[in-house]
Amino acid sequence: MIRIYADPEALSHAAADLFAEEACHAVESRGRFTVLLSGGETPRHVFELLAGKPYLDRVPWEGVHVFWGDERYVPPDDPRSNALMARGALLDHVPLPAAQIHPVPYRFSPRESAVEYEKLLRAFFADGPPRFDLVFLGLGTNGHTASLFPGTSAVDERERWVAEVYVAEQDLHRVTLTAPLINQAALVAFIVAGGDKAKVLREVLEGAPDPRRIPAKLIKPVNGRFLWLVDLEAAELVNKYA
Ligand code: 6PG
Repeated sequence: MIRIYADPEALSHAAADLFAEEACHAVESRGRFTVLLSGGETPRHVFELLAGKPYLDRVPWEGVHVFWGDERYVPPDDPRSNALMARGALLDHVPLPAAQIHPVPYRFSPRESAVEYEKLLRAFFADGPPRFDLVFLGLGTNGHTASLFPGTSAVDERERWVAEVYVAEQDLHRVTLTAPLINQAALVAFIVAGGDKAKVLREVLEGAPDPRRIPAKLIKPVNGRFLWLVDLEAAELVNKYA
């Protein structure tokens, strides 16, 4: 299901509304809300909206558990850190218990960080399937999502929940959740804005199935809802009547 919004502001409000609705439903029915945040720039304004009224009062923050779909392999105070961005835009401004914020640990190697995060996730979901209530994902112009980059081994990973990745074009190591884990989610929502994403969005939605070239095509919730929240510029090449 693709929902098209006039501009990034409307798109961000839609994403914040989705977060609030899903959080209220999950906490009311199961006592907690597990959300996987994406990194990059697109979600920043969504987080800023959630940190202010009316969302600040709408979301049952005491029941929210925050995780990340991927992280750059950098110290927590590095400006490239996805967790640092989310703390500055959202988490430092809402009454979410610190123990319910679960960033990717920064350890001696990317692999050790990935292994430790997987242990954390397996312990958190020990009583049932690893089913996030909401997963936010972004889309890179090269078709990556989370840190599932074209041509990397993480794209082919089917057993591990978390994998380390070396992104040659950025000379940067990253840690990412794998597609099999993401696809266990109850709801996956891509948030895509800007004309620079128009070509890749059409590839993902209308092109041939080619997940090694376009890893975002790996994302297909096994037993969950799937949403694309996009702005008009990103959707300009998509056949809206398909
Ligand atoms: C990251 C993200 C990544 C991001 C896309 C889109 O760590 O960079 O998780 O997958 O979502 O690269 O990034 P923008 O929103 O900045 O375009």
